[in-house]
Formats: sequence, structure tokens, C-alpha cells
Amino acid sequence: MAQTLSRGFTIWFTGLSGAGKSTLAQHLYEELANHRDLAVEVWDGDVVRTHLSKGLGFSKEDRDTNIRRIGFVCAKLTQYGVINIAAAISPYREVRDEVRRMVGPDRFVEVHVNVPLNVAIERDVKGLYQKALAGEITNFTGVSDPYESPMNPEVIVHTADETVEESVAKIIAYCETAGLLPPADYSPEE
Ligand code: ADX
Repeated sequence: MAQTLSRGFTIWFTGLSGAGKSTLAQHLYEELANHRDLAVEVWDGDVVRTHLSKGLGFSKEDRDTNIRRIGFVCAKLTQYGVINIAAAISPYREVRDEVRRMVGPDRFVEVHVNVPLNVAIERDVKGLYQKALAGEITNFTGVSDPYESPMNPEVIVHTADETVEESVAKIIAYCETAGLLPPADYSPEE
């Protein structure tokens, strides 16, 4: 049975489509859940949109609703000692700050998954940038819709210049230093 912490926290990835949010979320999950046996839940935008946010589109209003829903569950589970990892574009600063307040500012780790737009376009993992540039998809973040970078994120990772392992190590180091995560060699008293 995975262990809950006495106080949970939320790691909130924000960044362009193709920046690497889902990949980092999966690697973090592996480290925290599989290697450290902690209770961890991943809230990935693409997955959430097939369940919790089914039917929502990509207008500002729908995106904000999507982010508020993810924020709501993260806030609840954070109270019960779970580590939440959210991975949605979350392009708007104001609603991200709202979620920070919902979770509790001292329990919230905003991670800007920073990548130059041209690199995300080159990667085009899902082929969506090509469609967006051709005008076949409208309101596409970075192309025909805004992305507001965080002003003071707890961590910034540069996925064009760092390996996944380096980015994950940076995030873990922050969480340990901030006292959110016990160091890896820590073992709670029986
Ligand atoms: S958010 O803006 O509400 O945070 P979310 O992360 O859930 O977005 O979903 C983004 C994913 O939806 C993208 O990775 C992409 O696969 C897909 N998508 C489809 N249409 C769009 C669009 N117009 N803008 C951005 N992403 C889109």
C-alpha cells in the first residue's frame, strides 16, 4: 500500500503542447510512486478531457473550467496527503493563480515546462501544429491562441536543453529543499 504524506502537495506543470509535460509527469510518477512508494495521482489534460472534462472545448472559458476542475481535485487530494501531478497547458495566469490559492500556496509547485515554440512545432508529436498552422484547427495555443508564461514559477525546466532525467531531478530537488518531500533515504518510523 502506497504511503500518504502527513501533508500532500501539488506539482503543476504548465507549458505549450509538446513541451514535455506528460513525459515529465510519467517519469516523476515512476520515481515517486514506484521507487518511493508514495501515493501519487497524475492529472493529464488529454486524459482529464476524456472523463472529468468531457465535452469542453478550447475557448478561454472552457480551458478555465478544465483547469478549475483539475485544481479542485488536486486541492482535495492534497489535504489527504496525496502528491498530485497536473499536466495541462493551463495557458492563463489568472486561473493558475486561482488554483494555487485553492491548493494552498505553500503546497503548490508551479513548474514551467519551457520550450521554444519552434521546437514544439518541429517535434509536433501529435501532428496538431501542422494542422493549426494550416488553419485546420483554430484557437491553438502558441499559434492562434495565447500562452501566458508564469511570472514566478517555483521551477523552470528547459526541455530542449535538458534530459528528462535532469528536469525530473531539478523538480525533486526543489520539493526536497522546500520540505514538501522527504529525502530519498528517509524512512518513516514503523
Ligand atoms: S488546457 O488549455 O485546457 O490546459 P489541455 O492540456 O487540457 O489544455 O489539452 C491540451 C491538448 O489538447 C493538447 O496537447 C492537444 O493534444 C489537444 N488540443 C486540441 N485542440 C487544441 C487547441 N486548440 N489548443 C491546444 N491544444 C489542443
